[in-house]
Amino acid sequence: MARYLAMTSRGLVDALHDELIEIGAKNLDKEPGGVFFDGNWSVVMRANLRLRTATRIVKPILSFPAYKNEDLYNNILKFDFTKMIEVDGTLAVEASVRECAFKDQRFVAMKVKDAVVDQFREKLGARPSVDNENPDLVIVVRGYKNHFDVSLDTSGDALFKRGYRVATGEAPIKEHVAAGLLKLAEWDGVTPIVDPMCGSGTILIEAAMMAKKMAPGTLRKSFGFMKWKGYDREVFKKELETVLDVEETATEKLIARLTVEDEEGVEKVQPMFYGYDLDAQVIKAAKANAKEAGVDDIVVFRRHAMETLEAPCEKGVVITNPPYGTRLGNKESLKDVYKDFAFTLKNRFKGWTAFVLSGDPELSSAMKLKATRRAPVYNGNIECRLLKYEMF
Ligand SMILES: C[S@@+](CC[C@H](N)C(=O)[O-])C[C@H]1O[C@@H](n2cnc3c(N)ncnc32)[C@H](O)[C@@H]1O
Repeated sequence: MARYLAMTSRGLVDALHDELIEIGAKNLDKEPGGVFFDGNWSVVMRANLRLRTATRIVKPILSFPAYKNEDLYNNILKFDFTKMIEVDGTLAVEASVRECAFKDQRFVAMKVKDAVVDQFREKLGARPSVDNENPDLVIVVRGYKNHFDVSLDTSGDALFKRGYRVATGEAPIKEHVAAGLLKLAEWDGVTPIVDPMCGSGTILIEAAMMAKKMAPGTLRKSFGFMKWKGYDREVFKKELETVLDVEETATEKLIARLTVEDEEGVEKVQPMFYGYDLDAQVIKAAKANAKEAGVDDIVVFRRHAMETLEAPCEKGVVITNPPYGTRLGNKESLKDVYKDFAFTLKNRFKGWTAFVLSGDPELSSAMKLKATRRAPVYNGNIECRLLKYEMF
């Protein structure tokens, strides 16, 4: 059993906390950027495979104050890095510093790297090389007010890189944020969802993966921990088999529930997720992504303007991430988009609940609807609110 930290975006820590309880992590402790937990190798592998709202899982190894080069160098030597990777392996150091005596994070990264390779040389007579593209070991160093936390990245590529995104539009939302919105919306996993400005389809694809109980990590080829010394393939295989079994059973049940007969008695699967966008190119991207994710049987994407959209089914939830000023479009014309969106909701989505990710209060207030809840969440470095509207 060891201590780990699952990291996420601000606003999603509670959702991540709930997910960690679900996978059996123990001794949880929230902090602003994530949740600490205790777990053995099975739990860490499960976390990497199953957590939808995490960006990476790291193993904290050192925590110390440092004001001078020697402090940094000598403290790094307190951890035995030779037990992590082979001497002919590769490493990368990712450093960030804020309000520290060290001003240059590249210098900090270099100092840490020097200490690690000197340790290898001293103990084994040779050293690993640096590879910033595809390293075997990523050492994460965070310095704040001269206090340094050092951890090892168990994930490798960020966990929001699920592996299904073959194409995107102009301002795609990250996959873990899309999953987080569904958690913040307290979506029940069975109610149909419409995204009227779906872009490359991330929110609906994440929802469809949840409905099928697909673990988000199963499409990935590798995780950071796979390159560590002592990586136990059998433990991973067992974890992977478990999540694939769960997915198979849930998918069978879901497809059976969604299968209906048409007028000619032919069975067909009723979609559960509906995505629309003005832009034909992003609809193409969304379709390709859904296919890659293995959810194209329950999600439909169509080119359609939100202004004239009709509800595709009787009852459901609208969840969307409309365009906002900093990245797409111009503010005044965007206000019209929001006004029209409110009109569509009020007139053609009666009885539905709508969730709108707003990155700009001026735009969302143009909707002139009263939000019944406002959950703060960060989309990249844009502070947003997930606004909830009941369309009576
Ligand atoms: C911020 S992006 C959505 C990104 C999406 N969540 C994703 O993951 O790719 C906003 C989308 O709204 C679409 N859009 C803008 N005005 C629209 C309208 N009037 N009707 C339908 N879609 C519209 C844009 O084409 C764009 O794809």
